[in-house]
Amino acid sequence: MLLQDTRNSLSQSPTPLSGIFSTTKTLYDQLLSEPQDESTRSAARLFLQEHLGIAAEMDCELPADVNALEDWVAAKTVKVGKQYAAYLEERKAGKPRRFFTSKAHALHFLQAVAPSKLVDGAWLYGTLDNWQDPRFHPLIRTYLEELGDGVAQMNHVLMYRQLLAKHGCDGPLSLPDEYYVQGTLQLALGYEAQEFLPEVIGYNLGYEQLPLHLLISAFELHELDIDPYYFTLHITIDNAHSGHAHQAVQALLQQCAGGTDPQFYQRVRAGYQLNDLGVGSGDIIRHFDLQDELLRMLDRKRTFGQQMHSDYCKLEGKTVNEWLSEPGQMLAFLDALEARGWIQRGVDPGQSRFWHLISGPDALMFGVFTEYEQRLIYEWIADGWLAQDQATSGARQRPFKPARGSRRKAASDTAVCPADRTQLAMEPLSEPLEALRQQLESMPRAERMATLISMMNPSLHGTPEGLLATRMFSSQMY
Ligand SMILES: [Fe+2]
Ligand SMILES: [Fe+2]
Repeated sequence: MLLQDTRNSLSQSPTPLSGIFSTTKTLYDQLLSEPQDESTRSAARLFLQEHLGIAAEMDCELPADVNALEDWVAAKTVKVGKQYAAYLEERKAGKPRRFFTSKAHALHFLQAVAPSKLVDGAWLYGTLDNWQDPRFHPLIRTYLEELGDGVAQMNHVLMYRQLLAKHGCDGPLSLPDEYYVQGTLQLALGYEAQEFLPEVIGYNLGYEQLPLHLLISAFELHELDIDPYYFTLHITIDNAHSGHAHQAVQALLQQCAGGTDPQFYQRVRAGYQLNDLGVGSGDIIRHFDLQDELLRMLDRKRTFGQQMHSDYCKLEGKTVNEWLSEPGQMLAFLDALEARGWIQRGVDPGQSRFWHLISGPDALMFGVFTEYEQRLIYEWIADGWLAQDQATSGARQRPFKPARGSRRKAASDTAVCPADRTQLAMEPLSEPLEALRQQLESMPRAERMATLISMMNPSLHGTPEGLLATRMFSSQMY
């Protein structure tokens, strides 16, 4: 599962502060940059304890009997399948998109969930230490698959980075602190797995279930011409029959073999509930407001452009530099541009002089705005014109089918099918990487595996060295 669609609202009480870190984002950044630092680790434990305390108070949908889990997962999958079929019927009958009102809305979503996506799989990192114990293998296998088994094109974090970059969404977007809760929980669980193993298993069980919003997101991203592969991949790889959802149940059953410890399962349930903390996909989608986002973006950009304009032209008595000199003036500035005829809202943005200043290779401000930022401006100028245009031009839904297996459609360009993995992994290593490989191979096995694990942490596994370590670990753990 990606982010849960929770009932939590953005207006809920702020996240409890964790130890020396005043914000969740600070702890998130710290877990990425200095995960071994003792103060970071004790803050991570505190963060987990605080959130587990909240989770323990919540209702848990998991069955009371651990042996009923397999049937429960199967029934849940069938229910999601039926809900998705109903959604498709609804769309066929002409209902509008349920999630994304526009492309800018969808691109904003991709960025808003990035703190979790960019640490995909992190909660399982700490299970690698138990590679000699077969009961941990389903969890380790899932972690290795999140890492693409060391093949860059199949590494989920790199895949998501590429998706963001492809749409000009890799610049810093300042997000509210609650948006970092899930990513921070994932990192904290990953580094503290030895102490929080039942919670890791429970969290994994929740995260790897197929949620309805994943299916709908993939469908609507495709409709908006955004490559949905990252999302369709998670529909298939997390499947309940043989994928991560199945492995998640197996991991729990194997830990419980020989007798169910009620306290263990209680902790698993609390870990499962952690998935419902922070901000869910549904909240993120509902709280998007095009104009607010545009104004926030322009205010961020303002500081870079405030001395860059000539004072030749004045709008409503102010030069552009004056308009950009203080925060909070962007709406009035846009109004002034509209009043002076630089912007014509509600029609094709191509008719606005302002649009031609920022878009196209000959634009005076070429390169100033990323694709996402341009899209915000474009849709704000269009102001409903796009919807009318689509209606009158008879635009129809583009046919969409979630990927079958892990095979990617030929038109996509960020990942490969499993058959190509071996070939990619066999590409000759650069000289320094080959030297590193030889150095690692020369180590005694236990030392080598420990070194490989340290190179596969959530911050490093996407580097060339981390990918090499993942490939070596993956082929040597059995
Ligand atoms: Fe993933
Ligand atoms: Fe997964």
